[in-house]
Amino acid sequence: MDVDVLLLLICFSISFKDLSNKMFTFPRQTNTAHVRLTTSRQNLGAVTVCLRSFTDLKRSHSLFSLATPSADNDFTIFKGAASDEYLLFAKNSIAVFFGQDYKLNTWQSVCSTWDAVSGVMQLWLDGKPSSRKFASSGSNISGPILIVVGQEQGIYGGDFKSDKSFVGMMSDVHMWDYVISPDEILKYSKRQTFTSGNVLNWSALEFQILGKVLLEDQQNTH
Ligand SMILES: *[C@@H]1O[C@H](CO)[C@@H](O)[C@H](O)[C@H]1NC(C)=O
Ligand SMILES: *[C@@H]1O[C@H](CO)[C@@H](O)[C@H](O)[C@H]1NC(C)=O
Repeated sequence: MDVDVLLLLICFSISFKDLSNKMFTFPRQTNTAHVRLTTSRQNLGAVTVCLRSFTDLKRSHSLFSLATPSADNDFTIFKGAASDEYLLFAKNSIAVFFGQDYKLNTWQSVCSTWDAVSGVMQLWLDGKPSSRKFASSGSNISGPILIVVGQEQGIYGGDFKSDKSFVGMMSDVHMWDYVISPDEILKYSKRQTFTSGNVLNWSALEFQILGKVLLEDQQNTH
């Protein structure tokens, strides 16, 4: 096979892998480098997303960006500009959380939950619950769903801004189509056995790396 064609296939092929004990490393600030996470699910009446990240970013940055053609922030986890602030979005509506114990140079687990019936979102940082706040109720997240980590989608699939990009390491990304229990969130944050995501499963992840992102072994320093 032609080398160019082979390279193209390698670059654009979709992987489906067990990423246990692996992490994505985003080694520099860009408005391009990201990972697309693929799911066949296109209609969600509730969502939980959990992930772990390690960074020394003092600016705001995106941790998880789920967009559809009708809403670029259909489900977003965003570290705010103030050191204690996180922003969660569902259906383009925002809930802001203050007093959060964001730490530099530390693996931290972040979970976000939402359901379309109550419209309530909640943030769990290292297993510690936030206040519960209303964002959006009455309609589901409805695809085609595009999920990106490393960048925030300013429009569906694009308009990335380097000053919102993630720089650091990310691991253990899971997504469920229901609100998981506080007990499960605690297990996740303590690295105990938990029920893996049924929408995104880090142990069976379908993803596509675009640009300068490395898939590496986790360094066991925690
Ligand atoms: C919204 O999601 C719920 C739970 O998955 C489902 O039962 C319901 O049928 C969905 N509603 C629509 C309008 O798709
Ligand atoms: C996640 O993937 C692992 C490895 O394939 C599998 O054992 C587990 O059942 C999956 N979890 C779900 C909820 O599908």
